[in-house]
Amino acid sequence: MCGIIGYIGKREACPILIEGLGKLEYRGYDSAGVAVMNSGKTDVRKCMGKLRALEDAIRNDIPRGSLGIGHTRWATHGGPSDANSHPHTDCAGNITVVHNGIIENYMELKEALTAEGHTFVSETDTEVAAHLIEKFYDGNISEAVCRAAKMLQGSFALVVICNGEPDRIVAARRYSPLVVGLGKGENFLSSDVGSFLSYTRDAVYIDDDTAVTVTADSYSVTDFDGNPIRKEVHKIEWDASMAERGGYEHFMLKEIHEQPRALRETMRGRLSPDSGNVELPGLNLSDEYIKSVDRIRMIACGTAYHASMAAKYAIESLCKIHVDIDFASELRYREPLIDERTLAVVISQSGETLDTIVGLREAKENGAKVVSITNVVGSMAAREADGVLYTYAGPEIAVASTKAYTTQLMVLYMLALYIARIRGTVAPEDAKKYCEELWDLPEKAEIILNDYKAVREAANRYYCFNGFLYMARGINLASALEGALKIKEISYMHAEGYAAGEMKHGPIAMIDPTFATIAMCVKSKTYDKMLSNIREVKARAGEVIAIATNGDELIESYADKVIYIPETLEVFSPVLVAIPLQLMAYQVAKNRGPAIDQPRNLAKTVTVE
Ligand code: F6R
Repeated sequence: MCGIIGYIGKREACPILIEGLGKLEYRGYDSAGVAVMNSGKTDVRKCMGKLRALEDAIRNDIPRGSLGIGHTRWATHGGPSDANSHPHTDCAGNITVVHNGIIENYMELKEALTAEGHTFVSETDTEVAAHLIEKFYDGNISEAVCRAAKMLQGSFALVVICNGEPDRIVAARRYSPLVVGLGKGENFLSSDVGSFLSYTRDAVYIDDDTAVTVTADSYSVTDFDGNPIRKEVHKIEWDASMAERGGYEHFMLKEIHEQPRALRETMRGRLSPDSGNVELPGLNLSDEYIKSVDRIRMIACGTAYHASMAAKYAIESLCKIHVDIDFASELRYREPLIDERTLAVVISQSGETLDTIVGLREAKENGAKVVSITNVVGSMAAREADGVLYTYAGPEIAVASTKAYTTQLMVLYMLALYIARIRGTVAPEDAKKYCEELWDLPEKAEIILNDYKAVREAANRYYCFNGFLYMARGINLASALEGALKIKEISYMHAEGYAAGEMKHGPIAMIDPTFATIAMCVKSKTYDKMLSNIREVKARAGEVIAIATNGDELIESYADKVIYIPETLEVFSPVLVAIPLQLMAYQVAKNRGPAIDQPRNLAKTVTVE
């Protein structure tokens, strides 16, 4: 996820671009850059680091001109560096581009363009777009951008300027956000309205597979074949700080709602429901090695550890291989059995958690190959591992992890299917069924997010209870622990995640009318056992909220409150179960009042032991 911006008008563009990028920094801050055009010449300034570094670099020599584009980067292809920073240009420096998204076929396009004589100076997917537009440019930049856009696979919002046409900015979109801000004698382009709200509240949202050409006084929208499209102008009612959060009250809520998109981004280009195949180019492990591995050891902390718990169930069942899971903080102080036949899987949203990095090094020292699953390109976990699988969740700002967790699960499921294919433990027809089911998860997540009245009602009823017990069996034990962690960290309430079958060995003593139990009761092989556990809680005057599968009427006669989610295979259900639990934690915290995005005593990245 990156932030992009464009300005055309009568004022100096650079200060407006810098101000707008400041509002977009929540989308990424590995590097920043601007390109400002003056008398048909473009001055590109960019550098690695936060926007502040760019501001320092240009303070005494600000590029002048009233047309420009800018970018704040969240690295996906090519680590953070000056060369990989946007804007990128074509060979002649005539066409300048900023991009948000991932161009999946960039390698193949890069090879073809290189063979035609184009020279590349960065490792990014974006640079391909600049050269492709150069190839098609024939005096009409709008046409060239559309022709290039048609050839790109993946997601993109591109904003493009061309020295030969100094009166316009052209942009194109597929899957990544793009909005035009309409001022008086000036116009804006951006990933997010928040970046231009201090100038105008009139906005035109650009749809997928369309392009827009913007001058200081006009805008025109077309499809990629040049057919005109009429667009409505929206009046933005949000204030500037709300706009940064896309209109959501908190980043956490925004990030919960981003999960369908994040899951799609994470699958795109890797999983094919048609063939039942998974490709994991960053994994960097030979088939021979995967066949030779005799155990997998997962190393993680907190929420990422819960993802590893779910993965243990999934991998052991799909790949028939032994999986150990470790709190990274525990691993280094014992003598774990790790050797050359161990595949270590390190999971970390930030890729910088100290305990996890130490665990990674320990695994390597003992001869294991290490694969990191992380959200941050170029992070320590990515740099030090043998292979990297990125979760394309985009920056997670709220301290409580949400979209990082579900995308970690998604990567782990894809890894399980990949290993299962190589080791021959899943039949091809079953692999196809699993891929189809994974492919449908984002849509099912959307269904949950479109209507969660039942979650709100439950939160409103139970937020002043003395505590919560989350109980589950099987793979959703991970969900129970994750649900309890979410509520603890943002509402400061006592909560525990427990295996339902273990309740009778102690925790059931806590049950009374002031203690609420959240039971993971989706369709599974232990469904009947869960019903019995609910009965046991009810018999002790406890209140029960069940997370159940759509269409399950029986559960209504057991639980006090039911939150339904769409049906999926039990093995993948933690992705969907997580969402109402996140929303529940959010709503309870909202009712109780703590600072949701920055809870007390916590930090987003824990770089101490
Ligand atoms: C909880 C949460 C933490 C992190 C943990 C590991 O919501 O965010 O428990 O999961 O600190 O962080 P990463 O994944 O960055 O290693």
